[in-house]
Amino acid sequence: MTDSIPLDATTTDIDDTTVAAPEAEAVLTAEEWWRSAVIYQIYPRSFADSDGDGIGDLPGITSRLPQLADLGIDAVWLSPFYTSPQKDAGYDVANYCDVDPLFGTLADFDAMRQAAHELELKVVVDLVPNHSSDAHRWFQEALAAAPGSPERARYMFRDGKGDDGAAPPNDWESVFGGPAWTRITEADGRPGQWYLHLFDPSQPDFDWTNPWVRERFHDILRFWLDRGVDGFRVDVAHGLVKAEGLPDWRASADAGSMGGDAGPSPYWAQDGVHEIIRGWRSVIDEYEGDRILVAEAWVEPLSKLADWVRPDEMNQAFNFPFLEVDWSAQEMKSVIDDSLAIFPGVGAPSTWVLSNHDVVRHASRLALTARNPQGAGIGPRSAGKPIPDLGIRRGRAATLLTLALPGSAYLYQGEELGLPEVIDLPDAARQDPTFFRTNGEKYGRDGCRVPIPWESAKPAYGFNTTGESWLPQPRDWADLARDVQSGVPGSTLELYRTALSERRYANLGLGRLTWLDGFGDDVLAFENNGVTVIANFGDVPVELPPGVAIIASEGLDEPALPADTTVWLRLS
Ligand code: GLC
Repeated sequence: MTDSIPLDATTTDIDDTTVAAPEAEAVLTAEEWWRSAVIYQIYPRSFADSDGDGIGDLPGITSRLPQLADLGIDAVWLSPFYTSPQKDAGYDVANYCDVDPLFGTLADFDAMRQAAHELELKVVVDLVPNHSSDAHRWFQEALAAAPGSPERARYMFRDGKGDDGAAPPNDWESVFGGPAWTRITEADGRPGQWYLHLFDPSQPDFDWTNPWVRERFHDILRFWLDRGVDGFRVDVAHGLVKAEGLPDWRASADAGSMGGDAGPSPYWAQDGVHEIIRGWRSVIDEYEGDRILVAEAWVEPLSKLADWVRPDEMNQAFNFPFLEVDWSAQEMKSVIDDSLAIFPGVGAPSTWVLSNHDVVRHASRLALTARNPQGAGIGPRSAGKPIPDLGIRRGRAATLLTLALPGSAYLYQGEELGLPEVIDLPDAARQDPTFFRTNGEKYGRDGCRVPIPWESAKPAYGFNTTGESWLPQPRDWADLARDVQSGVPGSTLELYRTALSERRYANLGLGRLTWLDGFGDDVLAFENNGVTVIANFGDVPVELPPGVAIIASEGLDEPALPADTTVWLRLS
């Protein structure tokens, strides 16, 4: 719920961009840690590489955890590190209960989990239930078995259309481009049935109407709960159930690739998913502690997304409508209003997210010269490009606004360094299946997945010691490395660190937002737990009320808030 009170703008006594927080003990008292937590997404292959093969790994993560604790986050979420042929960077799982040798071993996972808990960081792992890898034993057994067998019934096998079954069962298209069906060759060598893959052909969809599938996933949940995880981020949570009869359907051309506002679809956001989630909730509730389910569901509008977060279902859902907002005060206000009405209305906190491993990094996305639908990516031949200085400026302002909102916030590795999207990756280096399945028409998501820089003067900027990197790092990233920014007032790293510390100190995550009027259409102003937040989305400076700046996303050398800047104030 939000209120509006008027506030007169007069002068402000501001002399620094960052005023140190009083020594803050953890003031977060909420029993349910996730209601206000800041959860940092680790993309394991690009975080820290201990063995120098160019791909990050679990021991690498363990070695860097103290730096994350120092940043001031509450939890980490790890994208998949399970056994996988890596056709979709690990979202093609061949064994849900083991670690891929690329990333280490189960013992390495246990060590990482333990180290995180010793640093009081919760650990959330990814659950990929919509599809497995085609290399999974379950799918290999299905291929070897006959049509109509229990093994085939684990996945979505169907006969093709036409006399010879040569046409796919329907017209669905894969999220990564091309048809969503692939025909197999039966054991006798003849062309056979087709299987559904909403994503890559190497990612066959499970049939979630089959109780066998449900039981296997309960086993998988228990496996990781027994290893002490604090929750699961559920991949493609809105895709598990397909409409009866699999009717033909095409998404509109400009809908985001993962659904979004694609309208009623026979495979996104079907009602049957809720019962499945309730089954998972009951498994989780067998365990002690406060363990969570987080939905990756590209569902709009927010009122529909909120169906996924009920007391007996998911705890949170990523707020993608917030992520998809352009740099516009009024659009952002409208999503914030909806979020703060709708999520608490179903007993859940709102979440806030600006970046992840599937979208153009927000330090670039917020200043693009042309629209870029989710999943399309940006490359040298793209029509729209980011305006770099404006992008980072807006990115910092957006982050500072986001971290002042009540609820739980997600950060994506590297955003605390102000990393931009990498645009000029050579075609030969690209790895996202989207790039290949659209014949290069869509660049896909590699540009936000480049290994992150830790130490400016080290090989691969400290990502490892050999200089190898599965995606090439830009030559100009030395200036963005963590060591160059650490302790430097005004750096993006210090902006994040101070904001996280002040957020904790003022308990903003559990606070209440009250809008402040009187600043004009290009400005958002609100109060939360004694902190006044003003964000200027416009291009003219805005006069500030009297007060002391706690932190600002850009230097403030006059009693006015420059364009594309956010400030947190304590009013006098
Ligand atoms: C989710 C993941 C994405 C992956 C897809 C298929 O959207 O975030 O990276 O490609 O699911 O698993």
